[in-house]
Amino acid sequence: MIELSSISKRYATPQGTVTALEGIDLSIREGEIFGVIGKSGAGKSTLIRLINLLERPDQGSVRVAGRDLTALPPASLRRARQEIGMIFQHFNLLATRTVFENIALPLELRGESKASIRATVEPLLDLVGLTDKRERYPSELSGGQKQRVGIARALATQPRVLLSDEATSALDPETTRSILALLKDINARLGLTIVLITHEMSVIKEVADRVAVLEQGKVIELGPVYDVFTRPRAETTRRFVGELVGGDLPPSLLRQIANDTATADPARRRVLRIRFTGGAAESPVLSTLARRFDLDFNLLHGRLDEIQGRPFGNLVVELLGDPARLDAAVKFLATQQLGVESLNYEQESGDVVRLDRAAG
Ligand SMILES: Nc1ncnc2c1ncn2[C@@H]1O[C@H](COP(=O)(O)OP(=O)(O)O)[C@@H](O)[C@H]1O
Ligand SMILES: [Mg+2]
Repeated sequence: MIELSSISKRYATPQGTVTALEGIDLSIREGEIFGVIGKSGAGKSTLIRLINLLERPDQGSVRVAGRDLTALPPASLRRARQEIGMIFQHFNLLATRTVFENIALPLELRGESKASIRATVEPLLDLVGLTDKRERYPSELSGGQKQRVGIARALATQPRVLLSDEATSALDPETTRSILALLKDINARLGLTIVLITHEMSVIKEVADRVAVLEQGKVIELGPVYDVFTRPRAETTRRFVGELVGGDLPPSLLRQIANDTATADPARRRVLRIRFTGGAAESPVLSTLARRFDLDFNLLHGRLDEIQGRPFGNLVVELLGDPARLDAAVKFLATQQLGVESLNYEQESGDVVRLDRAAG
């Protein structure tokens, strides 16, 4: 549905040239919700604005629904843009227009009759749950309601693609969830392709099918959300995932592990981080371990979550017992579609230091 090929974009500034995007190749499928995540300044807004050619690339082509937008003359480009709706962080509503009039605006601009406008806007008001607010002004609405108006306005021209630039970043968590649920519903009901950019992993987790991680203008990781979350390769991706499942251990726990390392018999003790990467659920694995290998375990830390109905997260456990059984248990874990990492820390002049990163 959307093909970005070899895209580069630079900006000339008084301080010199800024490379906002470099060598971007992305292929977004019809009907999917595609997430792009990155830190501030990574190039996300530039990327999404290229898709409807609000920004023109210095290099490369932008194809939407089979058409190369970069090659279209202005009149055809205006028509092509009607197939691409966009919503924004700060809603961009007109303060002097009612809810109904804001949604009607793109239709007025293309000269539709009053009757035809009403026939389009009324079902949209219903879709976004604002029928009773049609005569209200933006100043009379909550943030979530304003974004619902933004969504309805974006849908007025019956686009095939919806672009969302941090559309939930100005909203509280609960309103965010309701707006994301609405986007999911629209995606399912209308078969709309949605490209959503955000700096929050929780947003990606909630709605996206696939995700690209953008850093310094480049795509550093790309894949189905579950795969990227459970097997992050780049450091930046690990950080984003850590926001959700606690990648870093709390300092008090590090000290405790280090202290125990100093006093326990190292042959009879393992501290492992187990990452759930699909398939295995957490509790059966741990009880199987304890029973099958006759070990004791202490759960030290962990966070579990779910993406698209599959478990995801990590647990830090201490296993205690016979050395040969410990080895066998680690080998067993490695066959269970789990990521296993052994954690060894030591106190060194007051600091806790990591000794190795051996994987089982
Ligand atoms: N119109 C512009 N003029 C100059 N520099 C820009 C412009 N737009 C974006 N940039 C720069 O390009 C880089 C990417 O910006 P942007 O796409 O807005 O990132 P993000 O949305 O991920 O925060 C940043 O370094 C930003 O300062
Ligand atoms: Mg931005």
